[in-house]
Amino acid sequence: MLKKQYLMVPGPTAVPERVLQAMHRPMINHRGPQYEGMFRSISEGLKKVFKTENDVLTFPAAGTGAMEAALVNVLSPGDKVLAVSIGAFGDRFAEIAARHGAVIEKLDFEWGTAADPARLAERLTQDKAHEIKAILLTHNETSTGVTNDIQALAKARGNHPALVLVDAISGLGAINLEMDAWGLDIVVTGAQKALMIPPGLGFVAMNERAWGAQAEAKMPKFYWDAQNIKKSLAKWQNPYTPPVSLLYGLEESLKLMEEEGLENIFQRHQKLRDILRAGLKALKLSLLADDAVASAAVTAVLAPEGMEGKKIQKQMKDRFGITLAGGQKKLENKIVRIGHVGYVAETDILVTLACLEMTLQTLGIPVEYGAAVKAAERVIMEG
Ligand SMILES: Cc1ncc(COP(=O)(O)O)c(C=O)c1O
Repeated sequence: MLKKQYLMVPGPTAVPERVLQAMHRPMINHRGPQYEGMFRSISEGLKKVFKTENDVLTFPAAGTGAMEAALVNVLSPGDKVLAVSIGAFGDRFAEIAARHGAVIEKLDFEWGTAADPARLAERLTQDKAHEIKAILLTHNETSTGVTNDIQALAKARGNHPALVLVDAISGLGAINLEMDAWGLDIVVTGAQKALMIPPGLGFVAMNERAWGAQAEAKMPKFYWDAQNIKKSLAKWQNPYTPPVSLLYGLEESLKLMEEEGLENIFQRHQKLRDILRAGLKALKLSLLADDAVASAAVTAVLAPEGMEGKKIQKQMKDRFGITLAGGQKKLENKIVRIGHVGYVAETDILVTLACLEMTLQTLGIPVEYGAAVKAAERVIMEG
């Protein structure tokens, strides 16, 4: 039977047709005027998504590479770093810094909850000698489907001089984040989520304080050296050969985002989350995150008692062509994650919920057919 494929994972996400078409173009010289015109328009478009006046540096890399770039550009071995973690990606940010010789102190919060700004403020107040050089934050923790209140967490820094570094890989462009207004020193994101292009590009924006730290930072770097990237950016170029096809795609996806409007995009994502959560609740499934901190980009639902999450994923994929993500690390097999970031519409959520009803029934979990779809339709129609 023909199976239409639905990629409902939190990255890589589905790529709009216009972006796919834009990528199918002949190569151009990356040191010529045509490329420079395109890279200029991309770099300026990215600033709007980051809500910053600072340069946004583009690295051909996975998001993790951009996280590493952020760290090695502002830290020296032996620097103390306070890593606020609410899940697997918060842990990864800490691990990268540790591998480069930073001294890590973790401020951990239970997976499925958000970081508490009061606890961060309390810890920073204790640091009278200002030993902590950087605070690592995750905007949207993709492993648990929780969004942190980055504005409040950044505010919790008070007068402490530590830099605030934010991993916004799965949130930026889907969930509001205001680099300049919230005083964030470094913001990192990746290509394959809200930016709606295939994986392979990472982005790092640094403010003046971060550039000041960059001049002093001793962690070794060559490819990741932000000064190098900045120098080339002044000529609308990259120091090393860029993935031109991905940049064709990004130019088009930024146009799509501009046409929809950033605030409308945020609202669409919130609505997708609300539709999905209403449907899942109607099936009496438990959600990992509370409504108050629930991500607008990805939803984690607990597998029913006694059932492995993998079974649900397999049935959804084999029978209906819908790919969902599993749990990571300690949540492996305990949750199923449904991505709704980027090129996702209400209809995609309806299809996913309808097929989930049938999947659960097949797996021996009795459901009322149509219950999830009915609840979802209500949110679509009535808000
Ligand atoms: C919050 C967050 N940080 C970091 C990453 C790592 O990005 P990449 O897989 O592109 O290295 C991801 C990927 O899902 C993410 O969601």
